[in-house]
Amino acid sequence: MKKFHGLGLVFIMMLLLAREMKAAEHEEKGRRKWGGGEGGEEEEGGIFVMKNSKQVVKTDAGEMRIMRGYRSRSTPNPMHIGFIQMEPDTLFVPQYLDANLILFVRRGDVKIGWIHKDKMVEKNFTIGDVYRIPAGSAFFMENIGKGQQLQMICSIDTSEGLGFVPFQSFYIGGGTFPKSVLAGFGMRTLATAFNVTEEVLQPVMRRQAEGPFVYMTGSHQPSKWASFMKSEHRKIQEQVAFEVDDEDDGEDIKQVKPTKWSWKKLLNSLLGMEEEEEEEENKSRAVHYPDSYNLYSRTPGFKNNYGWSIAVDGHAYTPLKRCDIGVYLVNLTAGSMMAPHVNPIATEYGIVLKGTGRIQIVFPNGSLAMDAEVKEGDVFWIPRYFPFCQIASMSGPLEFFGFTTTARRNRPLFLAGTNSVMNSMMGPELAAAFDIPEEELRKIVTQQKHAIILPSWSLPPHRGKKEPPAIERHGLLSFN
Ligand SMILES: *[C@@H]1O[C@H](CO)[C@@H](O)[C@H](O)[C@H]1NC(C)=O
Ligand SMILES: *[C@@H]1O[C@H](CO)[C@@H](O)[C@H](O)[C@H]1NC(C)=O
Ligand SMILES: *[C@@H]1O[C@H](CO)[C@@H](O)[C@H](O)[C@H]1NC(C)=O
Ligand SMILES: *[C@@H]1O[C@H](CO)[C@@H](O)[C@H](O)[C@H]1NC(C)=O
Ligand SMILES: *[C@@H]1O[C@H](CO)[C@@H](O)[C@H](O)[C@H]1NC(C)=O
Repeated sequence: MKKFHGLGLVFIMMLLLAREMKAAEHEEKGRRKWGGGEGGEEEEGGIFVMKNSKQVVKTDAGEMRIMRGYRSRSTPNPMHIGFIQMEPDTLFVPQYLDANLILFVRRGDVKIGWIHKDKMVEKNFTIGDVYRIPAGSAFFMENIGKGQQLQMICSIDTSEGLGFVPFQSFYIGGGTFPKSVLAGFGMRTLATAFNVTEEVLQPVMRRQAEGPFVYMTGSHQPSKWASFMKSEHRKIQEQVAFEVDDEDDGEDIKQVKPTKWSWKKLLNSLLGMEEEEEEEENKSRAVHYPDSYNLYSRTPGFKNNYGWSIAVDGHAYTPLKRCDIGVYLVNLTAGSMMAPHVNPIATEYGIVLKGTGRIQIVFPNGSLAMDAEVKEGDVFWIPRYFPFCQIASMSGPLEFFGFTTTARRNRPLFLAGTNSVMNSMMGPELAAAFDIPEEELRKIVTQQKHAIILPSWSLPPHRGKKEPPAIERHGLLSFN
């Protein structure tokens, strides 16, 4: 008997050790590969944890990776989630996309230059900033954080796309890699268009071979493109005034496709060539363009002792209206949970920024669809109408950021807590539906004294329907 116990103990210890090792391995993986693992590599997770990760571009200087959304009949143009990571002092070369981007600066500082109403504008963005780059709008990004890596998360809305999966980049600056769209015109045409000789133009068009992410300076040879990003030739309109322009919708929609003018100007500025016409321009004119929205500098829309949340819709930040996307940020303290709720008008995408936790999602028929452990960099999505909740693990806070597929006010329907539908519908009808006396139901439903973000349960957590094997349960109990 004693011998058996000893063996049992050894077995339990081995089991625990194996679990520990697996957890450590997992943690390591999560840290190394920010922005999800390789496609299909993850062995666990749930059906609503996005695993279809694809590297779009990667060079020494940076990487872009996307998590592809699932195409279905109701969502022919699913949202993809992009992760951009850039090393210090690098440039993401000028380009435009056939997709709308909502950018969120996750870490670092970035200077973005883009064409707004035919004018080149530049603005610095920092951690927590949200900004929209419309489809067809030319832009570049430069990591200006001193010795700092830059990480950005973006939603990629392909509703205006060409149908190439998942989206298409059109590089303006380029050479042999990436190839500039200009190259397609042929040297003669280009030489005529720029009014320079082919000899002048050729080296410009052939030199860059470093890929879409290039170093600006340092030990790496600065590329031709990078050097004139630094040059003083470029005409950049000083940003004198910011405004959130919500009235000139008509005008802004035009901006979705670059006009001849913006093309010409951009190309001239990129090639460092002066144009007489431009010199005559009234330089003192202010360019009005939407300001960014910083999530970290806002007071949370909801806050209690167990966490806070911010939801930004089109009312709070007009540019979101244009692409009909909402943005949110949630921070749960260790063990806390977002009360079970439903998004009645939107699908929700979430990216874990910090911590670990679990996401539970329920099918319409009342069976558990997913109960997945998530960690930093994981991406999950919750279909519209599906009830779900997010729970922070006991080891620390859970911070996640995400997008919703509507810019309208998304009023979540809570299923538990003081503001829940259970509470507001309390009465003989609800009692009859559960087939228990009203008073009994009321007692249960009113037991929770908090709303939206709920404290952790003081009792040991119930692990769902799946009973762990007896030996594991035993082991956990004896070592806790
Ligand atoms: C943006 O950042 C760069 C580099 O740090 C700096 O030189 C420039 O003045 C900044 N521009 C604005 C408008 O703050
Ligand atoms: C081309 O450049 C020359 C000077 O090099 C200038 O005289 C001429 O007007 C330019 N033509 C056009 C169409 O810009
Ligand atoms: C052009 O600049 C002058 C000053 O140099 C200013 O008085 C005028 O209002 C400007 N015009 C426009 C259209 O901004
Ligand atoms: C999230 O909450 C934790 C405390 O629970 C806090 O330490 C952390 O700074 C918060 N994160 C942000 C981004 O505010
Ligand atoms: C509930 O619906 C899901 C998805 O349609 C299905 O996979 C599952 O088997 C259903 N469960 C029950 C108990 O009907």
